[in-house]
Amino acid sequence: MTAKRVLLIVSGGIAAFKALELVRLLRRANYGVTCVLTKNGSQFVTPLSLQALSESKVYTDLFSLTDESEMGHIQLSRAADLLVVVPATANILAKMAAGLADDLASTVLLATDKPVLVAPAMNVRMWLHPATQANMAVLAQRGVHVVAPTEGAMACNEFGPGRLAEPPEILAAIEVLLRPAGPLTGRHALVTSGPTHEPIDPVRYIANRSSGRQGAAIAAALAELGARVTLVRGPVSVPDPDGVTVHRVETAQQMLEACQSALPADIAVFAAAVADWRVEQAATGKIKKQPGAAPPALTLLPNPDILATIAAAGPNRPRIVVGFAAETDDLLANAQAKLVRKNADFIVANDVSPETGIMGGAENAVHIVSAADVETWPRLGKDEVARRLVRRIAEAFAD
Ligand code: CTP
Repeated sequence: MTAKRVLLIVSGGIAAFKALELVRLLRRANYGVTCVLTKNGSQFVTPLSLQALSESKVYTDLFSLTDESEMGHIQLSRAADLLVVVPATANILAKMAAGLADDLASTVLLATDKPVLVAPAMNVRMWLHPATQANMAVLAQRGVHVVAPTEGAMACNEFGPGRLAEPPEILAAIEVLLRPAGPLTGRHALVTSGPTHEPIDPVRYIANRSSGRQGAAIAAALAELGARVTLVRGPVSVPDPDGVTVHRVETAQQMLEACQSALPADIAVFAAAVADWRVEQAATGKIKKQPGAAPPALTLLPNPDILATIAAAGPNRPRIVVGFAAETDDLLANAQAKLVRKNADFIVANDVSPETGIMGGAENAVHIVSAADVETWPRLGKDEVARRLVRRIAEAFAD
């Protein structure tokens, strides 16, 4: 397969130096890179450094006769699989929204029919200005992809959103856009993972041993098959999978809200070990021991069942809904009961008795329970379980 090519447009901002790191990462990941450097961009990085890192000629000006005769703006876009603007200044975003073409970069952006990704970077007030926000809304509506700026201390001594996303994050977004189409391309998948933490007071909470590994592996496997994935994860230490939109939550109620706001989805996989109960009234201050007094009694309330709520019949029900059944006794009977009670299409049933080492471990031994049958899989790594499960979901989707 020939390497995919990125046309990287570097516009003028203090963050332009990070474009150099992005070029290095892209080359290391075997992408071809051609750079267009705007006039203002060349105040911050030199054509020579971009050329050395990209190992390709750098294009700087629409009106350079040699550039036009070698490769015009139309060919530049034609030769690329994706156009990426890093950093995207308020100015270039405004030009894109307005359809202006007064230099090579804006002309290429207007002339292209390829997907475009922008990574904005600017002063916080410029980013939050209604003009910039309106331009971003126009670009989003036209299908321009965005790696949102992050919040932090800025070169202008201010604090807030506007900092360029880090190059590895931009690379991850590029990889998603350049991924070959798979059986789940165009589908949106929602995944929950990890435990939930239900507060007792500001320093204590009720939790469980879930590591979030199986859910993260499922999210990654869905993305590998082309799905756009939203992962709603409780507090876990496993790293976020690449190319997946992650929402971090603490409690079951927050997890439900995050899932509901991620709808509509075509596929939903509920791998989280949600706490079944929460403390009725978490204390606002730390509960102190009183000498001689009885330990505090906690009154628990049931948490919402996220799977059952999302899987309830209605226009928003994802077409394929997968739940897990973590059991220590009567595994298959309990899984079959959950399939019906929660209105799921599949239940992935696993025995989490301590001697299995599954909860929090690297392997899983599962049965796939559906209304039609029960498939029993051998003990496998959680990544392999995820890949098989996602292939099974893609098959069900194709039926
Ligand atoms: N689940 C959920 N919301 C809850 C509880 C569970 O979405 N409040 C989902 C889990 O993510 C999993 C499935 O439901 O996919 C089964 O969870 P499990 O804890 O095994 O079952 P419970 O419904 O809690 O039943 P029980 O405690 O009786 O085993």
